[in-house]
Amino acid sequence: ILVKTLVAALLATTAFAAVPAAAELRGTALEVFKPLPSTTPAVADNPITPDKIALGKALFFDPRMSASGVFSCNSCHNLATGGDDNLETSIGHGWQKGPRNAPTVLNAVFNVAQFWDGRAEDLKAQAKGPVQAGVEMANTPDQVVTTLKSMPDYIAWFTAAFPGEEDPVTFDNFAKAIEAYEATLITPAPFDAWLNGDDAAMTEDQQQGLALFIDKGCASCHAGVNVGGEDYYPFGLIEKPGAEVLPEGDKGRFAVTNTADDSYVFRAAPLRNIALTAPYFHSGKVWSLEEAVSVMGTSQLGEALEPGDVGKIVGFLKALTGRMPEVTYPVLPAETKETPRPSG
Ligand code: HEM
Ligand code: HEM
Repeated sequence: ILVKTLVAALLATTAFAAVPAAAELRGTALEVFKPLPSTTPAVADNPITPDKIALGKALFFDPRMSASGVFSCNSCHNLATGGDDNLETSIGHGWQKGPRNAPTVLNAVFNVAQFWDGRAEDLKAQAKGPVQAGVEMANTPDQVVTTLKSMPDYIAWFTAAFPGEEDPVTFDNFAKAIEAYEATLITPAPFDAWLNGDDAAMTEDQQQGLALFIDKGCASCHAGVNVGGEDYYPFGLIEKPGAEVLPEGDKGRFAVTNTADDSYVFRAAPLRNIALTAPYFHSGKVWSLEEAVSVMGTSQLGEALEPGDVGKIVGFLKALTGRMPEVTYPVLPAETKETPRPSG
């Protein structure tokens, strides 16, 4: 009986020892990352309602929010292609090329602040930027409000989305509605299923890639629910990449804080859906994810990563590609004779 118990105990320990890989790795991963919530997250000072989401969606797709009538948010954050434009840097008003690569709007609600340099506090602050940026939509808040008020359906939709407000059609409310819509753009991925306990959701190789991502130190900057998007670091912490990847003119957070220490400091990029959003980095200069990972190895960790390890890390990053939100193309109100005509 004693032998039997011993064998049973031994078997139990070996059986236990066989699982640990997954269980232990999950335990470590849960200290660093968080699965996506299963419902739309709340945002500050902006209760999210179905009417507000529907209005925000219309605004997101409406090119008449730009001076030319050509550009909507979806032009550069195309929800059919991972929430970005797949260009090195965006093309906006008058075919002008902007200075930076467009990040995805998917899951952006979970970033600590918006833009590569974090200069907008949240999505409602962010949404006011592109409308007015000369190289993006080149419009003015007054003109946006005039355009919206020229279409009776928009007045009705703003009234429903902001009940009790005397003058609901405002630029602030435009931004709040867009924020509400963006908060719904979340993409649960195999990584979330795995974090939540489904061992089979990631392949063996992807789990090894995750282990490398943690062990090598990537996770010290790319952590939390968005696997990044939480904090700021110098791009080139250990070794500054060449100007072909990190153009000298864009000093990142330095322009926001005016502190010398913030030269070439950027937000650690959120990595959900990263396999869909080439080209990479704020410069958009790197088209392959393998190359982007290698650049990170040398620039942030001071390590030339082995090709095999790069492959496994990329495999893990592909487990961050999520289920896209299902989007029914919205039907927008028709313009009227009061609607300002496209210009420029
Ligand atoms: C950044 C939303 C219009 C190009 C962003 C971000 C959001 C966003 C949420 C920050 C994402 C992040 O930091 O991870 C919107 C909305 C728009 C709009 C709601 C409509 C009102 C556009 C247009 C263009 C554009 C029309 C292209 C002409 C960019 C670029 C950035 C950006 C280049 C990065 C800029 C930087 O970091 O300095 N947008 N966007 N966006 N968007 Fe848009
Ligand atoms: C950007 C992966 C380590 C900070 C990126 C991007 C990828 C990536 C794929 C490009 C994202 C995009 O274009 O949207 C990795 C991997 C790492 C690693 C696999 C480990 C091998 C680190 C570390 C830090 C860091 C240790 C902080 C010290 C950043 C920053 C950016 C970034 C600041 C934005 C760079 C820019 O301005 O373009 N990372 N990363 N990363 N990562 Fe990492």
